[in-house]
Amino acid sequence: MSVLFPESLESLELKLTDGLASVEAMLRAEIASDYELADITARHLVEAGGKRFRPLLVLLAAEFGDSSAPGVVPSAVVVELTHLATLYHDDVMDEATVRRGAQSANARWGNSVAILSGDFLFARSSKILADLGPEAVRVQAQTFERLVIGQLMETVGPKDGEDAVKHHIQVLADKTGSLIAAAGRYGAMMSGVSAELTNVIAEFGEAIGIAFQLSDDLLDIESNVSGKTPGTDLREGVKTLPALLALADPSLDARLRDLLSRPLPDDDEHAEALAALRVHPAMGAARGVLGEWTAKSISCLDQLPDGDAKEALRTLCDSVANRAI
Ligand code: IPE
Ligand code: IPE
Ligand code: MG
Ligand code: MG
Repeated sequence: MSVLFPESLESLELKLTDGLASVEAMLRAEIASDYELADITARHLVEAGGKRFRPLLVLLAAEFGDSSAPGVVPSAVVVELTHLATLYHDDVMDEATVRRGAQSANARWGNSVAILSGDFLFARSSKILADLGPEAVRVQAQTFERLVIGQLMETVGPKDGEDAVKHHIQVLADKTGSLIAAAGRYGAMMSGVSAELTNVIAEFGEAIGIAFQLSDDLLDIESNVSGKTPGTDLREGVKTLPALLALADPSLDARLRDLLSRPLPDDDEHAEALAALRVHPAMGAARGVLGEWTAKSISCLDQLPDGDAKEALRTLCDSVANRAI
C-alpha cells in the first residue's frame, strides 16, 4: 500500500519521510543483539520490508500536538516492534511460509526459533516502553491483551448460535484494530494532545484498523502482490469475511460450501476454491462492509481540527479502501 498524498501536502509528506527515517534508524538499532541468532532472526523481517503503516499513523497523530516531542519516534518504534513480534507468532499459527516477500521465520528456522524471535522483539519493545512512562506501558498491556484475545477468538471460532459475521468483526477489532488504535493514541499522547482528541484519534485508528484488515483479507483472495502467499486464509481454513458471507447464503452451491468449510492442503482444491470465491457476489458484499468501516474512520475526522494532518488522515483512509498491494 503506498499512500499517495496530494501535492498540497508536500511539506507534511517531507516531514513524515524524515520522521520515518528516524523511526527506521532507531528500529534497527533497538533490535541488535550480541547473540548472533537473535540478531539475525530479528533483522530478517525488519530488513525484508513492510509498509510501516503503524509508525506513519503515530507520526500523523503527533501532528495534532508537538510532533517534535521526545516520545513520538520511540513510541512509533514500540508499535512497529510489537507488530513485528505478532507477525512472527502469527506466521507460526497460520503456517505461513512467506512474509514481506521473504521466507517467514518459521519456514526458515522452524517454529521454536520463530516464536522465541517474536518474544525477543516484545522484550525489546518493552525496554523502550519503560522509558515512556507507566501510562504508555498500560496502553501497550491493554492493546496486547486485546490482540491476543482476538487471535484466540479467531482460533476457536464463534460459539454455537453466535452470529459468525459479528464475531468476525470483533476478531478484526481486537487482533488488528487494537494496535492501530494504539498507534494513533501514542502519537497523540506523546505529542501532548488533549485526552479528548486523543480518544478521537484512537477511535479513528480502531476503525481504519478494521478496514485495513478487511482490505488485507480481500487482497488475500484477489491478488498476489501482497508479499504473502495468496489464498493463505483459504488454505488454512481461516474464514475471512468473503467466505463467511458466502457461507451465510443458503443458495451457495454445495461444492463451494464444502471447500470453504475446511483447510485445503490439496493444491487443486485450493485453486478451485480461490477461483470460485473470487467471482462470488460475497466479494462485493465484503467490499461494502469495508466501505462502511472506511466511512466510520472518515466520520471520526469531523471531530479533529482542520489542517494538513487531517487531510493526510483522509488520504490514508482512501489508500486503505483502495489498496492494491
Ligand atoms: C499485516 O500487517 C497483518 C495485518 C494486520 C493484515 P501489515 O499489512 O501492516 O504488514 P507489513 O508491516 O506491511 O508487513
Ligand atoms: C493479522 O493476522 C493480525 C496479527 C498478526 C495479530 P492475519 O493472519 O490475518 O494477517 P496476515 O494475512 O498473516 O498478514
Ligand atoms: Mg496470518
Ligand atoms: Mg492469522
